[in-house]
Amino acid sequence: MASRPFDDYRTAIDDPEYFFGRTTLLKYFRQNFNSVQVLLGGQRIGKTSTLRAIEWSMLGLPPDGRNSPFPVLINMQEEQPHSADQFRYLLIGRLRDAIGRYLGTSDETSWKDDLRRAYQRFVGMFDEVTIDAHLAKLKLKKPSTEINADAFRAAIRDGIEDLQERGFRGILFLLDEAGFVTRTDWGNDAWSHIRGFKDTDPLKGLVGLIVSGFRGVLEYQQRVGSPLKNIAKVIWMTDFEGEEANRVIARRFAEEREPIRDGDHAFLRDYSGGHPFLLQQLISILIDERRKGDPSHEAVARRCRKEHKQIFRDWWNSEGVADGLTEDARIVYGVMPQNGRVSRDDLQNRLNMREDPFDDALDILCGSGLVRVIIYLTHNAVRTTIVVA
Ligand SMILES: Nc1ncnc2c1ncn2[C@@H]1O[C@H](COP(=O)(O)OP(=O)(O)OP(=O)(O)O)[C@@H](O)[C@H]1O
Ligand SMILES: [Mg+2]
Repeated sequence: MASRPFDDYRTAIDDPEYFFGRTTLLKYFRQNFNSVQVLLGGQRIGKTSTLRAIEWSMLGLPPDGRNSPFPVLINMQEEQPHSADQFRYLLIGRLRDAIGRYLGTSDETSWKDDLRRAYQRFVGMFDEVTIDAHLAKLKLKKPSTEINADAFRAAIRDGIEDLQERGFRGILFLLDEAGFVTRTDWGNDAWSHIRGFKDTDPLKGLVGLIVSGFRGVLEYQQRVGSPLKNIAKVIWMTDFEGEEANRVIARRFAEEREPIRDGDHAFLRDYSGGHPFLLQQLISILIDERRKGDPSHEAVARRCRKEHKQIFRDWWNSEGVADGLTEDARIVYGVMPQNGRVSRDDLQNRLNMREDPFDDALDILCGSGLVRVIIYLTHNAVRTTIVVA
């Protein structure tokens, strides 16, 4: 079996050449960097890949790009801070670290002329740079792993000054797997501080935050009294649209020098539903099986179900894992037709569910990538929503 990049298309895409779609999303984040945004999506729908794309697209902009913030990507689940002070330390540490890697890369490769190579170097340097080396400027007592609110503000101000000389306008923190922070008892303290400080001069408008996760983050954001309530805009990830899926298919087949046959596009698109991870896996299985024989599409689909049993099970959330569906989402999904379309109102009437919980369940289902909502404008401008299962 061929060995494929990104651990056989299972880990996040960190190469601009292999990243597809999400153009509206990237443009939106570039234009609205200085606020708090919550980016939600279910398992393997492409959250980390999208945060990576925000990172490389922003690093590639200066010195010509106006309004471009400096991106700092942090995986909360991996870093596991234990307190609000440690969380702040982490943000500053990673900021200094990212500036160091950016400068180290710029010395050798031009971000403008060869974004791909520059980003590869930037990502690869990660393990060579330690946070502490870049915190020297802060004159922290060593060993230190915590920063209080005042030192944090000063460090951000310093960082911004540094970055402005290099053509960046502010800082955008990209917090991946942020469900880790929302689950902690110090999370409120940390968010309130960041929230308060990003609205006060002189840093106002210069610091942004994208908080990414799934149900844990959503529920936290909606909770009464949550510091993220009313200030954060919620954005849901979606499956690939038909054209985006077609581009992925064409690219993968070309790269592996396999001819595409009649019906392949439709099969791959329909069976994966445009879910990025499933689409990539289904393409790999189809190509592998073709190299061994002449399988039917049904046989390929069967193998996909067998190989990825666990992810289907997790979606269904029978063990109550936080990444899966809620009870209501399972009920709504249960009455959807196997294939095809159903109108939103029909579905709601059929279930006799109240509007709010029904819409929440629909959000979760769409965010997980299991269904897609299409919005039509009718002649009298009434919105009709169709759900495709
Ligand atoms: N924009 C994209 N272009 C091409 N493939 C993608 C894209 N986004 C996601 N994929 C596919 O989905 C896989 C998972 O992507 P990624 O790790 O970014 O998802 P995630 O939502 O962060 O997952 P997790 O829930 O595990 O954190 C990738 O390995 C790739 O195969
Ligand atoms: Mg991820």
